[in-house]
Amino acid sequence: MNPFLDLLLVLATLVYSYLEAFVKLFIPVKRKSVSGELVLITGAGHGVGRATAFEFAKRQSRLVLWDINKVKKDIGDVSILVNNAGVITAADLLSTQDHQIERMFEVNILAHFWTTRAFLPTMMKNNYGHIVTVASAAGHFVTSFMVAYCSSKFAAVGFHKALTEELSTLGKDGIKTTCLCPVFINTGFVKNPSTRLGKILEIEEVVEALMEGILTNQKMVFVPSHLSFALFSEMLFPERTLAVLKKLTDVKFDAVVGQRSTQ
Ligand SMILES: NC(=O)c1ccc[n+]([C@@H]2O[C@H](COP(=O)([O-])OP(=O)(O)OC[C@H]3O[C@@H](n4cnc5c(N)ncnc54)[C@H](O)[C@@H]3O)[C@@H](O)[C@H]2O)c1
Repeated sequence: MNPFLDLLLVLATLVYSYLEAFVKLFIPVKRKSVSGELVLITGAGHGVGRATAFEFAKRQSRLVLWDINKVKKDIGDVSILVNNAGVITAADLLSTQDHQIERMFEVNILAHFWTTRAFLPTMMKNNYGHIVTVASAAGHFVTSFMVAYCSSKFAAVGFHKALTEELSTLGKDGIKTTCLCPVFINTGFVKNPSTRLGKILEIEEVVEALMEGILTNQKMVFVPSHLSFALFSEMLFPERTLAVLKKLTDVKFDAVVGQRSTQ
């Protein structure tokens, strides 16, 4: 190991990546075809999952739309897995009941393990597939009265990043991963959300960004896209400044506060 050569390699990769990103600004991005792919979407009965299912259907994909129970042997080799199902209880930590905390972890993260472990072996054998994690902006930025939800979504982001890393280490570069991290969406999932950051997102714009992310193999999709800068500012700005910025954003939604849970 030569530290000088290592540094040179890092710098060369950095320059190459920036040049590539610059050139890509002027070249139309290539979108992959999902025609004929077997796509499994969890939580496809409503909201983001339902609209995503319509988008895949428009592109002639074959669809498996899952609700609570999942039976692998009945459906065959899924090549695109969209882990979208999610649940939330908006309440302060002590008002959140034990079973609500467990449910958020079961659906928002543990289910991702079970579905991925069910379909990954065939994807690994073929070195082909795509695993989509629907996380949230709450998987990067914290909000009061969503302690369990934010924790489960941080876990979902961690799952996506660690899985991406592991697939790369194993040389499975044919298996792509995408993580979706939107702010509030107008689905009724969170009750009466509002923020000074901007309007509540419509399902269509979120699904458009998600589909673009999947078709162009983007690893992380923020909606709105400038959220990635906010992530950067978290690392740069002092804590006091971040606290003021947070206050200014004035995030609000209906939540149970001060009703201490007895379970
Ligand atoms: N709506 C938002 O403000 C928002 C913001 C960021 C991220 N998200 C995430 O987007 C995803 C979709 O949210 P949405 O707004 O479309 O919600 P939604 O409630 O409109 O739809 C979720 C669907 O998942 C289903 N579902 C719940 N548990 C399930 C389970 N165990 N198995 C199968 N299906 C199940 C529900 O029945 C429902 O049809 C969730 O993961 C959510 O955390 C939502």
